[in-house]
Amino acid sequence: MAWKDKLIIALDVSDADKALGIVDMLSESCDIFKVGFELFVTTGPSIVDKIHAKGKRVFLDLKFHDIPNTVSKAAVAAARLGVYMFNMHTSGGLDMMKRCRYDVAGFCEKNGVQKPKMIGVTVLTSLESEMLKNELCIQHTVKNQVKHLALLAQKAGLDGVVASPQEVALIKKSCGDNFLVVTPGIRPSWTLPDDQMRTATPRAALHDGADYIVMGRGILKQEDPVKAIELIALEILTA
Ligand code: C5P
Repeated sequence: MAWKDKLIIALDVSDADKALGIVDMLSESCDIFKVGFELFVTTGPSIVDKIHAKGKRVFLDLKFHDIPNTVSKAAVAAARLGVYMFNMHTSGGLDMMKRCRYDVAGFCEKNGVQKPKMIGVTVLTSLESEMLKNELCIQHTVKNQVKHLALLAQKAGLDGVVASPQEVALIKKSCGDNFLVVTPGIRPSWTLPDDQMRTATPRAALHDGADYIVMGRGILKQEDPVKAIELIALEILTA
């Protein structure tokens, strides 16, 4: 797979015009666009249809986290929208994830719809071990916690997980090559980490086996985002 097929651009903007402007601007460079809280809450599901109308795929990043019944209903609604990928928090538990997988698979089979990739969020890339311990009372290191949650997601039958690029190798070793790893927290060498704690360059993440890299500010906050993608390509291809 060409590296650009692994690139997901985070549409972290506040309105549909801005988001669709980015889709048009990066149309040649990217095929999958991520719709997160800000954009979805502002525009509603119509933004997904509008991105699809441009021939692009959508990663619906709403990180569902609730009781199994509630999350499974939201998951089926996401499948009905025809998204390529959506996610839920693995810390919602095994039953929640299993129920989603079962209900979404049933819906897709009954309606002849392509099954979206179902991805579990492990530990947010903005957290590190001290924060887990002091704030969330989780005594595991981030790496152990990520591994534990990735195995739980696999047991539930999800297609993969979201984790930081620093945990890709560990997850692949624990869960096997076919279990997808989607990595935000990606920062080219010439950008700042912002609020992300566990970062890596696009090249390092892909080298470790990331199936998809999610990039927002590292591209969109640059003066020329198209040029930024070209620079990243150069960094990757000359590795
Ligand atoms: O701007 P930046 O590249 O840091 O954006 C990363 C994107 O990935 C954001 O939209 C953020 O919500 C999302 N994300 C994340 N960490 C996760 C899951 C999603 O940063 N664990």
